[in-house]
Amino acid sequence: MFHDLPEPVRARMAELEARDARDRKDGTPRMQRLRQIPPETGRFLALLAAAAPPGLIVEVGTSAGYSTLWLALAARESRRKVLTFELLPEKAALARETFRTAGVEDVVTLVEGDALVNLKELSGIGLAFVDLEKELYLPVYEVLVPRLVPGGWLVADNLINLAKALGPFRERALADARADATVVPVGNGLLLARKPASG
Ligand SMILES: C[S@@+](CC[C@H](N)C(=O)[O-])C[C@H]1O[C@@H](n2cnc3c(N)ncnc32)[C@H](O)[C@@H]1O
Repeated sequence: MFHDLPEPVRARMAELEARDARDRKDGTPRMQRLRQIPPETGRFLALLAAAAPPGLIVEVGTSAGYSTLWLALAARESRRKVLTFELLPEKAALARETFRTAGVEDVVTLVEGDALVNLKELSGIGLAFVDLEKELYLPVYEVLVPRLVPGGWLVADNLINLAKALGPFRERALADARADATVVPVGNGLLLARKPASG
């Protein structure tokens, strides 16, 4: 999956990595920054998504679509689809440009609007990736967990670099009897929660 990255995907990833690095240095206002995951998190997500049980791959918080590209690699290999949710029209426009130039429009669908409203329509999720405003992690988690297939995964970013803000979410997920969860030091810290395959 990683050894033969299609050239349009590799090129768009490189562009977005350069822009994200520039945004972080030059004082670009927070809501305009891409705030994307580091490449190591992308690789980890793609591996996990490719091995997840059959079902939709869902992403909450698209920004310009960098993390979506990693998920799209997994979706293509495992013959699945990615559904990604973004609130801001200007970020959604950038993401559409990403999916068009990278050639992944056949496996990715972008839903523009408030994910908390739109996620309620879903079912049959094999893997969900959560990466948006930190106060929304808990409500989004509560909507997603019942919609995971047995053996399905929920992955959430920033559990280490934003440990204080995400403390209540972390406590809730680690204590939740509906899923087995842990935090791993990949990138900015990922919470992994898996719904048991039976029981
Ligand atoms: C940290 S960025 C996502 C970065 C992206 N996952 C990546 O790694 O390339 C968070 C994104 O979530 C979006 N967002 C915030 N609230 C949202 C909501 N209620 N529904 C959907 N998207 C939302 C923001 O506009 C922002 O683009």
